[in-house]
Amino acid sequence: MADRFRIQNNLETLRDFSAPGEEGTTRLSYTPAYLQAVDYLKKEMEAAGLRTWEDGVGNVYGELKGTDETAPVILSGSHLDTVRCSGYFDGQAGIVCALEAARMLKESGKPLRSSFQVLATIMEEGARFPNLTGSRYIAGENGEAQLDTLRDQDGVTLREAIRQCGFSGNLEMTCRKADSIKAFLELHLEQGIRLESTHTDLGIVETIYGCRWFTVAVNGATSHPSTPMNLRKDAGIAACTLISELAALVEEHYPNRATVTFGKFENHPNEINAVPGRTVFSVDFRSGKPEILNELEALLKEKLKAMESRFRVKTELTLYSDVPPTPCCAEFSKILEEQAAALHFSTLRMDSGAGHDAMIFAKHWPAAMIFVPSHNGLTHCPKEWTDYGNLAKGADVLCAAIRQIDKLD
Ligand code: GLV
Ligand code: MN
Ligand code: MN
Repeated sequence: MADRFRIQNNLETLRDFSAPGEEGTTRLSYTPAYLQAVDYLKKEMEAAGLRTWEDGVGNVYGELKGTDETAPVILSGSHLDTVRCSGYFDGQAGIVCALEAARMLKESGKPLRSSFQVLATIMEEGARFPNLTGSRYIAGENGEAQLDTLRDQDGVTLREAIRQCGFSGNLEMTCRKADSIKAFLELHLEQGIRLESTHTDLGIVETIYGCRWFTVAVNGATSHPSTPMNLRKDAGIAACTLISELAALVEEHYPNRATVTFGKFENHPNEINAVPGRTVFSVDFRSGKPEILNELEALLKEKLKAMESRFRVKTELTLYSDVPPTPCCAEFSKILEEQAAALHFSTLRMDSGAGHDAMIFAKHWPAAMIFVPSHNGLTHCPKEWTDYGNLAKGADVLCAAIRQIDKLD
């Protein structure tokens, strides 16, 4: 059975690879804290008997060799990067539980036919470069062009960030062939309250909600606070009006079907005694239905037009990321469910409101997800928590499912 103390030790060590001075864990991709976490993880993988390497963009692998080198591999893991001021479970729990499954497989003395690879992806969160960029490179959805066009908020290109960290930038060895992967299994915290509130051990994910992200820039004119209200071009008031109107519409017309979040908001020049001449903010739409994401995008465009005439401003809308709602593999979800039942763990079928690497993998290879309960549903904050015993249950199910999938032709 999985050892909760090994899981705890790995997670609590990873927790402290964090940018100094920030609350909780802050580990953006390609930063010193990130590279320290990679070093530690590789050492832990090697201590477990895995062969390790990084691909061209910095996704980390640890491989337990199978008996048939020609068989497609079974892959499990999640992301090593975090948002700012995060907890230390989001992403990391999936890597550590996959590593624990690898240890159990190794210790059993009964090798798999397929090789089993533990994967730690980079750039899943979108906190520095767009979300899911590491797995998009694995899937071949991104190429050389994005290495130069994707930039962080300081203007550093992805190619420069990769080079500064000493990763090779070689995309040929990063992109996995269509027939080389048999399954991708991802364990993750639920990031909601359904499992905990129903006292259910584990969740089996059916559909992962889609997300569509935009950056909105509102251009008005900076002026003195004495400028009469009807003459000013106040980008800040225009942005705030749009935000409050759109949030109210989503709440009223799409209850339990969609959400909207405005997580970033910047005013220029950001002075107490200046009318903001430029305001830039983010929009994050989530829904399980692609047609709803289209409706929300249309609504946003309509509201932007209305703001332009009402507040005498100009707006620019840029699509930052767009990932459609994604179903998980029914066959492998059933295997996860059956293995949980065989271990006497209760399960619940559910959708995921949060995005995951499995969304990218599922378009190219069979991918399935298992959720563990999130205490109070808290996530993307230092209070994020799950009991280590929950993670041990998840690792046991992962391990059993890997063995089952290995038996399939
Ligand atoms: C990832 O955490 C996301 O859903 O944004
Ligand atoms: Mn996250
Ligand atoms: Mn995550």
